[in-house]
Amino acid sequence: MSTPAVQGTETRTFDVAWVREQFPSLQLQVNEHTSAFLDGPAGTQVPRQVIQAVENYFISANANTCGAFETSRRNDAMIAATRGAMADFLNCEANEVVFGQNMTTITFALARAIGRGLKAGDEIVVTTLDHDANVAPWRALEEKGVVIRQVDIREEDCTLDLEDLQRKITPKTKVVAVGYASNMVGTINPVAEITKLAQATGALMFVDAVHYAPHGLIDVKALDCDFLACSPYKFFGPHMGTLYGKREHLQRFKPYKVRPATDAIPDCWETGTQVQELIAGIGAAVDYVAGVGRHCNSNVKTRREALAAAYRATVPYERNLLTRLLDGLQTIRGVKVYGISDAKRFGERCSTISLRLGEHHPTQIAKFLGNRGIFTWDGNFYAMNLSERLGVEPKGGVLRIGLVHYNTAEEVDRLLAGLREFATK
Ligand SMILES: Cc1ncc(COP(=O)(O)O)c(C=O)c1O
Repeated sequence: MSTPAVQGTETRTFDVAWVREQFPSLQLQVNEHTSAFLDGPAGTQVPRQVIQAVENYFISANANTCGAFETSRRNDAMIAATRGAMADFLNCEANEVVFGQNMTTITFALARAIGRGLKAGDEIVVTTLDHDANVAPWRALEEKGVVIRQVDIREEDCTLDLEDLQRKITPKTKVVAVGYASNMVGTINPVAEITKLAQATGALMFVDAVHYAPHGLIDVKALDCDFLACSPYKFFGPHMGTLYGKREHLQRFKPYKVRPATDAIPDCWETGTQVQELIAGIGAAVDYVAGVGRHCNSNVKTRREALAAAYRATVPYERNLLTRLLDGLQTIRGVKVYGISDAKRFGERCSTISLRLGEHHPTQIAKFLGNRGIFTWDGNFYAMNLSERLGVEPKGGVLRIGLVHYNTAEEVDRLLAGLREFATK
């Protein structure tokens, strides 16, 4: 199935067959079924060029940094090139990009560094919609007497309660920590608007863009946020995390580090030896997304333009899949979908759906589908506050279906058929 890339100046339709050819794992057979990877929110599959970049690193550039010999120089050049790729991905400067083990570890390190300057009574705002990786690192500062204020949701559509958010931001607020998109119900938050509210009181704005990154173009300059974290393994790359920080903040806040390590940014934020082979893979992942853009529009000039062209093609494609999925779910008795389901509001959500089917335990549904080669997730996906708030935590959480641009209408139909079979068995 291909969908016209309706926005922008794309010259070709979105070519999902070409996209799928780039991903060797999409051919994987399980119980004689071709695997349908609807588990993207927990980690996407990787294209061949990411696999090759990791392999090439080991063959030709496997050395530690800053050595006086060729493979070390190649490693340094590769890290610099990947910082440049991530800078294009986020629309920032290369020295504003920090690599780390994953978003959770990076956020704990950042919270510890910011926390050095906080005192009892200072406040941090977190939300009920967020993954715990954007809650627990800030809550850890309660040990210092920092007060955590948690913004509620509007239960009917699982959006942030912006009035509550405004109430929770006070002159004492030092950090506002908000997700760009919910990894459980797909809600996209008005991050630029929230950044203005945070900064009006002098607070720092931290954005968790882990779930948003595969679904929309990130522009930290347009958002004007102070920090933004995302994880390349959610956007077709390897298992690592990255942090954007405004240069003045990376310079001002002091990370915990070993004495011989440099004080220069961004390296001072990268504790110990990095997983360099995977940094090579991150660069290839960004180039893959840019390649999707170039495949849709051969007129783009820069990598940033190519990335923008990619999302102009994938966003409407994912929305079509989402519409098909939601329409189909409505025909299955007992299905309850959480979050926005009105197509007119699809700009406020991405193509991640959570549902319950009667009183069936989500693990049972996921197992049933898994045996048919359809990979979904069950549980709370670490969005603990939300799972508790929706009252599903004691019941095993929800079943989550994540659609990304390599998924197809046929896969959605297979999922719907599987759910229908489960519901009537
Ligand atoms: C929205 C969101 N934030 C944070 C995380 C944690 O990311 P990481 O696994 O890189 O620590 C996840 C992982 O699922 C996520 O979905």
